[in-house]
Amino acid sequence: MRMRAAVLEEFGEPLAVQEVELAEPRAGEVLVRLVACGVCHTDLYTASGADPSGYAPTVLGHEGAGVVEQVGADVTSLAPGDHVVTLFSPQCGECVHCVDPRTNLCMAIREQQNKGYLPDGTTRISREGDGVRHFMGCSTFAEYTVMPEIALAKIDPEAPFEHACLFACGLSTGLGAAISTAAVTPGSTCVVFGAGMVGLGAVAGCRLQGAERIVCVDLSADRLELARGQGATDLLEGGEGAVEAILAMTGGFGADYTFEATGNVAVMQQAVEAARMAWGLCTVAGVAGKGKTLDIVPRLLITGRRVAGSSFGGVKGRDQVPVLIERAMAGEIDVEPFISHRLGLDEVNRGFELMEAQDGIRSVIEFN
Ligand SMILES: NC(=O)c1ccc[n+]([C@@H]2O[C@H](COP(=O)([O-])OP(=O)(O)OC[C@H]3O[C@@H](n4cnc5c(N)ncnc54)[C@H](O)[C@@H]3O)[C@@H](O)[C@H]2O)c1
Ligand SMILES: [Zn+2]
Ligand SMILES: [Zn+2]
Repeated sequence: MRMRAAVLEEFGEPLAVQEVELAEPRAGEVLVRLVACGVCHTDLYTASGADPSGYAPTVLGHEGAGVVEQVGADVTSLAPGDHVVTLFSPQCGECVHCVDPRTNLCMAIREQQNKGYLPDGTTRISREGDGVRHFMGCSTFAEYTVMPEIALAKIDPEAPFEHACLFACGLSTGLGAAISTAAVTPGSTCVVFGAGMVGLGAVAGCRLQGAERIVCVDLSADRLELARGQGATDLLEGGEGAVEAILAMTGGFGADYTFEATGNVAVMQQAVEAARMAWGLCTVAGVAGKGKTLDIVPRLLITGRRVAGSSFGGVKGRDQVPVLIERAMAGEIDVEPFISHRLGLDEVNRGFELMEAQDGIRSVIEFN
């Protein structure tokens, strides 16, 4: 079939919205009609050429929600009409990691996905016979996509698509960092560095876990106000004095749980240093630039602090994304404030500009 899609032709150039060809789903694959898709930093990171593992041409986008149109052979868990969220982090349910509750890092299709191919090593997207690669296994800046069944989470058909798509990446990452990776305990003190989509999700996750005190740290007063709306009890301007300020707020000890959601290694260091001696856990969700390293004085670890990393919030996508969406529908998570702009597919580059200007939390592309 023919469809419109936003293609990354050359790194550093605007995406080119154009008609491309999409082949039918093969065995284990599903054709999805996109209804909404968030614009994320990872899309921009690849488009800019900064990501050393990036490839082109490719159809970007990975925060999609839509409707199943057609299923390939052997697909048993999805049917036409089902509402789904796309998962750059799939869940095959069978690999060594999927069967272990300690991780969400499914190994089933990793290698081909990282190269821009579907699990059988080919692409369904093409242009005049030449393959166009699939980005993060998703390619959701397009009217339709073909994805593996194991990379789609079936959600409540009543969930609004423009809310649901945010659970495909940043929101679940933040919520999951608090709920799954750190498993924040009731009554605890938490500090979240960064109040973007991920940090705000972490604030909400700490609240849902019953944290008593949630300090949010950011450079932007507007974003800190959004954090208050998600449950932050204390707001702190980021910068050099942040650790001292947190120690002063916590009787000199630091927080039970800290979260880093900026991608800046200096802030990661602060998040480690702001964690409490004896049992403080620092969860790192930000993606640092290539070659950057995190500097930690080992004494901080000897005296009981721990550091954890969190990919997609440790969330096993097919099982847990639908649950997070249920909680949002039940009124436990206020999703609307995260959507700052609604754009058409033709305005996708405007979504990048808004993100670079830090104008709002998320632009959502709506297809109709
Ligand atoms: N682990 C994962 O699976 C995963 C998934 C999605 C995104 N990410 C990463 O998470 C990070 C955050 O993503 P986002 O979409 O929320 O980004 P964002 O840019 O919207 O938010 C980052 C926030 O950090 C703040 N900040 C910058 N410097 C700061 C400082 N010194 N102190 C305090 N705050 C500071 C900014 O003002 C901004 O509000 C990025 O690195 C992104 O790549 C990771
Ligand atoms: Zn993303
Ligand atoms: Zn798996």
